[in-house]
Amino acid sequence: MAVAVEELKAGGVVALPTETVYGLAADAFNAEAVAKIFEVKKRPSFDPLIVHLARAKDLAKVAVVPEELQDLVKKLTKEFWPGPLTLVLPKTEAVPDIVTSGLPTVAVRISKHEVMRGVAKELGNPIAAPSANIFGRISPTSASAVLAELGGRIPLVVDGGACGEGIESTIVAVDMDGGKPVLWMLRPGPVTREDLRKFARVAKPKEGKGQVAAPGQLESHYAPRTPLLLFEKPEDFVPEEGKTYGLLSYRGEEKDGYVGRHEWAVTEIMSPGSGKMSEAAVRLFHLLRKLDESGVDAIVAEPVSTARLGAAVMDRLRKAAGSAS
Ligand code: TXA
Ligand code: MG
Repeated sequence: MAVAVEELKAGGVVALPTETVYGLAADAFNAEAVAKIFEVKKRPSFDPLIVHLARAKDLAKVAVVPEELQDLVKKLTKEFWPGPLTLVLPKTEAVPDIVTSGLPTVAVRISKHEVMRGVAKELGNPIAAPSANIFGRISPTSASAVLAELGGRIPLVVDGGACGEGIESTIVAVDMDGGKPVLWMLRPGPVTREDLRKFARVAKPKEGKGQVAAPGQLESHYAPRTPLLLFEKPEDFVPEEGKTYGLLSYRGEEKDGYVGRHEWAVTEIMSPGSGKMSEAAVRLFHLLRKLDESGVDAIVAEPVSTARLGAAVMDRLRKAAGSAS
């Protein structure tokens, strides 16, 4: 960890573990260091970064919470920080424009992972860190996945083991609408809509409301190199002559309609144990990478229920299929 802090102090970038996915970190208050993140990831400059804090009281360094939202923000941070909830709030002057792609808001969270938190504490500044993958590709959930993505392009990966959540943080913009607080859901994630509803109205961002759009959420994302196909119902899958297919199954069960439909070259099961969605989320990106490397012509993914955490899993599958909605 000390080496990572030294590298960040010197204006470099390093890959660090978080509980969601590995992040590519730089000192958020050093614009030149942040520019390196965009360069290494081949990330377009219009896609802003998430800023990671060491503790909740550091929020004032990066965000100005409007008076009418202070109560809500306090409740949310108390309940979900440290953890996989990112809040979008008006930014302070201290946050360089390159971090927010010129937006007046900043996306901020505190990771549950002691490495990310510890490094931020030692550095003394917030850490800007997007997922440690080449732009548009699958987020890495292990140190070896980071090396597969960015090996040779970065000086250091801190190996913190496999990520406990496996899917990126939930992003909400905290805002006022019609005189009441609202949480605009910019990216579904481990903290679910159902969890958030207890605190405020949760809604889809309105079109044309520029300040709440999540620019990086619009296009195809999390994409394997191999085409990923998603169907409404299993019968819609018609294999092409001479092509090989891999199946990404939810539980590996016949009754879901995919397992016995075709002679799959490879089958990977997201939730082979408990059948729970959290297990599927943890394994999703790892299995997408595996299927991508298996040499099949296309991957067919079973759709999952969109209740609770399933909403985040389906969101990633849709984006991997390039049919972002
Ligand atoms: O779990 C996570 O959030 C991981 C770990 C490393 O913390 N990070 C992550 O970062 O997923 P990234 O850069 O891959 O995704 C951040 C998303 C982007 O889609 C970006 O557009 C959005 O956050 N975002 C950042 N700042 C924003 C802002 N001010 N307003 C709206 N969206 C913003
Ligand atoms: Mg990302």
